[in-house]
Amino acid sequence: MIKLVNVEKTYYSKAGDIAALKKTNLDIKDGEIFGIIGLSGAGKSTLIRCINMLEVPTGGQVFVDGKELTAMNKQALRQARQSIGMIFQHFNLLASRTVRDNIAFPLEIQGKSKAEITKKVDELLDLVQLHDRADYYPSQLSGGQKQRVGIARALASDPKVLLSDEATSALDPQTTKSILALLRDINQRLHLTIVMITHQMEVVKQICDRVAVIENGNIIEEGTMYQVFTEPKETTTKEFVATVNDMTVPAILNTADMQQTYFDGSKVLVHLTFLGNADEPVVARLIKNYGVDVNIISGKIDYLKDMPYGTLLVEISGSKESLATALDYIHQAKVKEEVIGYVS
Ligand SMILES: Nc1ncnc2c1ncn2[C@@H]1O[C@H](COP(=O)(O)OP(=O)(O)O)[C@@H](O)[C@H]1O
Ligand SMILES: [Mg+2]
Repeated sequence: MIKLVNVEKTYYSKAGDIAALKKTNLDIKDGEIFGIIGLSGAGKSTLIRCINMLEVPTGGQVFVDGKELTAMNKQALRQARQSIGMIFQHFNLLASRTVRDNIAFPLEIQGKSKAEITKKVDELLDLVQLHDRADYYPSQLSGGQKQRVGIARALASDPKVLLSDEATSALDPQTTKSILALLRDINQRLHLTIVMITHQMEVVKQICDRVAVIENGNIIEEGTMYQVFTEPKETTTKEFVATVNDMTVPAILNTADMQQTYFDGSKVLVHLTFLGNADEPVVARLIKNYGVDVNIISGKIDYLKDMPYGTLLVEISGSKESLATALDYIHQAKVKEEVIGYVS
C-alpha cells in the first residue's frame, strides 16, 4: 500500500544542511498497522510527512496505493492526498469551528453538497462516538475527545491510509488506550492501513503488526512487533523494549557476590519469558524431573496485542549437576531464558 524507495530528505539552510532522512526503503502492506519508533529528532515526522508529500523528498520515490506521488503534478497530488488521512499530536483543530464543522471542513473544500456532508459527518460522529458533542467547540473538549475529532476529520474523504504522527503523545495512559482501541477498530472495520509514528513502545506493543526503529535518519531495525519485542537486536531497540518490559533484578536480591559460573552452593537466577499460551508447565517439570527447587522472585503476565506475554524471574537451587541439566531442559523448552548469574 505504501512503498518508499531510497527516499531521502535534507533540509538546506544557511546555518548548515541537515540530512534528516537518509536513503530509506519501506514496504507497508495493505491493511496493516505499521509502527515507526524513534527518539526525538530521529526523523520520524520527516519520514511520515514524506509519505503524503507534506515534505517533498530530496531523493527517491514514494508510492501510495500503486501510484507514484513523487512523479505527480500539483493537481494530481491534491487528488491523491485525499486517500491519505493524517492525525497529529496537537490535534490541529480549527478553534472557531464546532466539532461537526471541523469534521465537515475537508468535505467543504472538496465541494460536496450540504446533504452529502451532513450524512457523512453523522456517520463519522457515530464511528468516533461523539454525537453528543457535535455542537461543542474544541476548547470545550478533553484531549481524547479532540483526537476523536481529528480522527473523524481524517476519515472524512474515505482514505485508504491513515498517518498518525504521535497522535497519543499528549494524552494520559488511559485515554491513549481508548484512542488506540479506536484506531484498531477502524483498521479492522474499514480495512484501513495505518502508519503510527511514536516514541512510546507502549503504543507499538498495543496495536502494531510490524515496526521499524529509526535513529539518526536511518531505519536500524525492522520486523514483526513480536520479533522486535522479544528479540531486539540494536541497542536503541533494546532500550525501547526495556521501557515497557523491566527486566532488572529487584534490589532486595543480594547480587553483590554474583558470578557468571557455578560456585559452591550457589543458586542460579534465570529470567524466563513466554509468548503465547504456555502449554508446557516448565516450573512444575523443573521441580518434579530435575531435583531442583524453584523460588519465584517476580513475574507478570502482559499482552502484546492479543498475545499473552509472561515474564518470570526465578532462583533455582540444587546440586551443580542438577542445575546444569535443569538449564539444559529450560533451553530446549518453549520458553526464552536468560541466565542472569549465580548467587549465594
Ligand atoms: N523544516 C525543517 N527545517 C530544518 N530542519 C528540520 C526541519 N524539520 C525537521 N528538521 C530537523 O530534522 C531532524 C529530524 O526531525 P524530525 O523529523 O522532526 O524528527 P522527530 O519527528 O523524530 O522528532 C531534526 O534534526 C530536526 O531538527
Ligand atoms: Mg516528530
